[in-house]
Amino acid sequence: MSRAVVVVAAGSGTRLGIGTAKAFVPVAGQLMLARALEPLFTLASPTLVVVVAPAALLDECRQVVASVAGAAASYTAVVPGGADRHGSVEAGLAVLPDSVASVLVHDAARCLTPASQFERVFDAVVGALVDGSGVGFVPALPVTDTIKRVSGAEVVETVDRAALVGVQTPQGFPLAALRQAYALSARAETDDAGVFQAAGGTVQVVPGDADAFKITTPWDLGRAESIVRSRSGSGSGSGSGSGSSVAEQTRFGLGVDVHAFDADSPCRVGLLDFPGEAGLSGHSDGDAVAHAVCDALLSAGGLGDIGGRFGTSDPAYAGATGDVFIRGAVDALAGAGLAPVSVTVQVIGNRPRIGTRRAEMQDALAAVVGAPVAVSGTTTDGLGFTGRGEGLAAIATAVVRPA
Ligand code: CTP
Ligand code: MG
Repeated sequence: MSRAVVVVAAGSGTRLGIGTAKAFVPVAGQLMLARALEPLFTLASPTLVVVVAPAALLDECRQVVASVAGAAASYTAVVPGGADRHGSVEAGLAVLPDSVASVLVHDAARCLTPASQFERVFDAVVGALVDGSGVGFVPALPVTDTIKRVSGAEVVETVDRAALVGVQTPQGFPLAALRQAYALSARAETDDAGVFQAAGGTVQVVPGDADAFKITTPWDLGRAESIVRSRSGSGSGSGSGSGSSVAEQTRFGLGVDVHAFDADSPCRVGLLDFPGEAGLSGHSDGDAVAHAVCDALLSAGGLGDIGGRFGTSDPAYAGATGDVFIRGAVDALAGAGLAPVSVTVQVIGNRPRIGTRRAEMQDALAAVVGAPVAVSGTTTDGLGFTGRGEGLAAIATAVVRPA
């Protein structure tokens, strides 16, 4: 088995103040550790799971692991933790077989982290191993509060939050490099990415998920309990909820995009090539239809917009085809526990003519969105920039619901 997750669960939970090791505190009727482990046994590829537990609770931990793992129990191990998180991670890494290439380190305290976040980090780590870069990855969310630097009670300055993210777990790395980094560490780092970077490794971010927050205080525990209750109340994820509760959680999104014509570029609209037609200018391939669909999906999930997420000035997306952005939006939705239900997009302009290729465009878009896509076309009766043939506009709507 070439993939493993080390779940650190050996902390005492001092700040929670219940007097029980934190991972063994119930969260809405089920132990935090059990909730943290659940998604690991639903992953697409076989994954070795090592749980690092308080030395006094190894037997209890084995019982929890066995009950959650079920038939996959043979892929698990339980080991005693260290005096701090650093020591506990080392204890987990030490028992992994050398055949493991990619390892994720996860806090049991982030017990509502969805399976999609593990898949996202694994995909990134495996990709970086394949391309030879060996980069590590951390899930991150933008910082939403205004951040101030203080000296005692006095505010010194506002810190530019555009360059800041909050990082979560699981954090993923090539196993051999992470082991080496831990062996070299001066133990000053507060997360695995810090250890990896201190040893000279490169770390990149992937999108995080609000549900992957860490339970530290009693308030966090209450938040986790209300999330679990609202999930089971709605039946989301099981498909067994009442129609009205699913309908209540359905969300709508809107996306608009415009690109100017550029006779020197190839024409790509709605993920299709239109040979002989003037193309669209833009940092990417200028596919206004794909970009509008991407924005509609992101806005339905309250996940921002294409420019903010994929950086229109980011060289990584220079010349990127429209499907890259749509796939990115679908992945971001999955990270937020949402899935597309349907998308509509209207193409506004004189050319290219959509009519004869409408079904083909719908199929191409639907294959990436993972839900039906309806395409329509219109002109603006000779009025405005679309009427004058200066550019093409697209307006899209998206409906998403809990995955
Ligand atoms: N952890 C661990 N071994 C330790 C300390 C922490 O495995 N010696 C784990 C915790 O179980 C948790 C994660 O590291 O899953 C993050 O730690 P934290 O949230 O600080 O948990 P605790 O240390 O348990 O809480 P506190 O700091 O309030 O005591
Ligand atoms: Mg701690």
